[in-house]
Amino acid sequence: MRKSRTFMLAAAGVAAALLLGQSLQASAAAEGNRELGRALAYDNKKGNCLACHQIPTDPATQSPVSKDYTDATIGPPLIKMEARFPDKAKLRAQIWDPMVRNPNTVMPPFGIHHILTPKEIDLIVDYIYGL
Ligand code: HEC
Repeated sequence: MRKSRTFMLAAAGVAAALLLGQSLQASAAAEGNRELGRALAYDNKKGNCLACHQIPTDPATQSPVSKDYTDATIGPPLIKMEARFPDKAKLRAQIWDPMVRNPNTVMPPFGIHHILTPKEIDLIVDYIYGL
């Protein structure tokens, strides 16, 4: 009886350690995705989102010259995305094809015009969803 209890405890310990390892790995991967998404959003050959949007909560969007936030005002500031888009799929749809919501928008339809790959759009969504 005692032996089997010891075994059970050891097995539970190993399982807990494995789970912890897995969740640490998952959160490191999520963090990595946000960094990649951020790079894609800033890259003027990729998302170039800052040409039109401010990202006021990200200090790296401050202009090195004026120390002020980038002052693009063509689109609304990207902020509180999770509150404004409780359904993450709708946020993705906005980037995939903004013309569905507004046929006259100047925002490029990144998905349907193959400006970004589906994977790149997923990464950008992961990044801006946390803003
Ligand atoms: C050429 C300018 C331009 C670029 C580049 C651009 N956008 Fe936009 N975006 C807009 C405009 C203008 C709107 C306002 C909605 C509309 O026109 O229908 C908008 C709206 C949005 C919205 C909806 C915001 C809301 O609260 O309704 C999101 C999200 C968004 N853009 C994300 C992005 C992301 C992410 C990128 C980069 C991959 C990007 N945009 C690139 C112009 C742009």
